[in-house]
Amino acid sequence: MKLKQLLVAVGALSVLSFAQSASANEGGIELKHAEISVTDQAQIRRGLTVFTDVCMGCHSATYVTYKGLIDYPEIGLTREAVDELRGDYALTEGMRTDLSAEDAKGSYGKVPPDLSVIAYARKGGADYIYSVLTGFEHDPKGIIPDGNFNEYFPGHRIAMPDPMGWLDHDKEDTAQIEKDSQDVAAFLAFIADPHQNQRRAIGCWVLGFLLLLTLVLWRLKVEVWKDVKH
Ligand code: HEC
Repeated sequence: MKLKQLLVAVGALSVLSFAQSASANEGGIELKHAEISVTDQAQIRRGLTVFTDVCMGCHSATYVTYKGLIDYPEIGLTREAVDELRGDYALTEGMRTDLSAEDAKGSYGKVPPDLSVIAYARKGGADYIYSVLTGFEHDPKGIIPDGNFNEYFPGHRIAMPDPMGWLDHDKEDTAQIEKDSQDVAAFLAFIADPHQNQRRAIGCWVLGFLLLLTLVLWRLKVEVWKDVKH
C-alpha cells in the first residue's frame, strides 16, 4: 500500500472511531440527548452536589473515594469541602448511602444499584441516565402506578420513585430539573472512568508523535533511496 493510501486509511479509521451513533436504550427506544462534558469541572461539581443531595439517599458510588473528590482535577474539591461531605466516613472510603439493602428492599422492593459504573453498564450512558431521570410519566395504559412508569426504563416499570420530581412538575421548573439531571449524568459519566481524560490526552500525544515519526521516516526513506533506480 502506498503511504498516501495508508494515511487516508488511518484518517478514515480515526474518524470512524470518534463518530457517535444516536443512542437508544436496551429496548431500542430513542433516548434524549444529554448536554454533558466530562471535562467541565463546573458541571461535574454541580452533578456531585445533585448526587450527594438526592441520589445518595438510596444509591452508593463505592468506587469513588472521598479522597478522589480532591485528587481528580475534574472535581478538585478542597479538603475542607470533602471533610464536610464525608462526616464520619474515612477519606479513603467509597461514597456509601446510609440506606441499608434491607430497608431499601422493604421500601422499594429492590436494592438500588451502586452507580459507580452505571454510565458504562447501560447502553446510552449519560443519555440513558438523563432520559430515565426525566422520563417519569403517567402510564398511557393506566396499569403501572404513578411514579413507577418510566418512558425509558426497559419494560417501563421502575422501582425508583421519581427522584427529581419530574412527574407533574410545574412548567417553570422544567429547565432546572433538566439541567440538574444532565449535571448528575455528567458526574456519573465521569466517575465511570475517572482517568478517561488523562488517557485521551496521552493518546493524542502518542498519535501526534507517531505521525511525526512517520513523516521523518518517510523523508529519510526518500533521501536514502533517491540515487537508486527502482
Ligand atoms: C428513593 C430511592 C432512590 C433515589 C433517591 C434515587 N434512586 Fe435511582 N434507583 C432506585 C431504585 C430502587 C432503583 C432500581 C430500579 C429498578 O431496577 O427497577 C434505582 C435505579 C437507578 C438506575 C438504574 C436503572 C437501570 O437501568 O437499572 C439509575 C441510573 C438510577 N437509579 C439513577 C439515580 C440517580 C442519578 C439518582 C439521583 C438523581 C437516583 N437514582 C436517586 C432508588 C432511588
